[in-house]
Amino acid sequence: PSTGVLAGRRVVITAGGTREPLDPVRYLGNRSSGKQGIALAQEAAAQGAHVHLIAGIVEAELPRGTARLQVERIETAQELQEAVQRAAPEADLLVMAAAVADFRPAEYAQAKIKKTDNGGAPVITLTRNPDILAETVHRRSVEGIGPRVIVGFAAETGDEGSDPLTLAQQKLQRKGCDLLVLNRVGENLVFGEDATEVHILASESARAQLKDSEVISVRGTKAQAAEAVLLQAAE
Ligand code: C5P
Repeated sequence: PSTGVLAGRRVVITAGGTREPLDPVRYLGNRSSGKQGIALAQEAAAQGAHVHLIAGIVEAELPRGTARLQVERIETAQELQEAVQRAAPEADLLVMAAAVADFRPAEYAQAKIKKTDNGGAPVITLTRNPDILAETVHRRSVEGIGPRVIVGFAAETGDEGSDPLTLAQQKLQRKGCDLLVLNRVGENLVFGEDATEVHILASESARAQLKDSEVISVRGTKAQAAEAVLLQAAE
């Protein structure tokens, strides 16, 4: 029998970035390394959960699949959406650590886009990707199916003098998830690094369940951040 705060729980974790194809050789991507999501998956397994890690493009090495930890690969936001839709109904906890592209090229060119002789450059039109987190929350509230606890992430650069915590509070409400993990990002912050700084915010209804209802801040390794997030989620 497994022990740990997530013993016997089914946990779905998304990690890494998505890759949105433009033509057979080009794509739009982002700088997510996948390290935080992988750390979450490893910590959840260590806490006794059955883990389904849905990984996009990652820079870090993926854990090997075990009886406890199943690894599924996806590339685009739409593939991630399908994978989450399949996995979420059975899950107790969903952690959306993936850096999902908000936009994808509106059209996929079947052949490589060519340079023209007149020196012009193509215009790439983008279209919105589905918001997988918001959609999963919505489905839970409308159809009553899905994870009891849903955790979102927010990568904020703290631009235009706006306070990242205020932005994160707004995002928490807008997305409707139970916990929101804020991390500061920028050129040399967080992406690809092993050290991180996260702030864990709880929704109003989640706060009622928590002993420590204030914002929890962790500065340390991504493994330490993962542990703090999963402890809050378990509670
Ligand atoms: O809106 P923003 O991209 O900042 O929200 C980040 C959170 O929403 C993350 O948890 C991310 O995994 C999730 N997300 C999503 N689908 C998108 C964009 C983001 O589920 N299209």
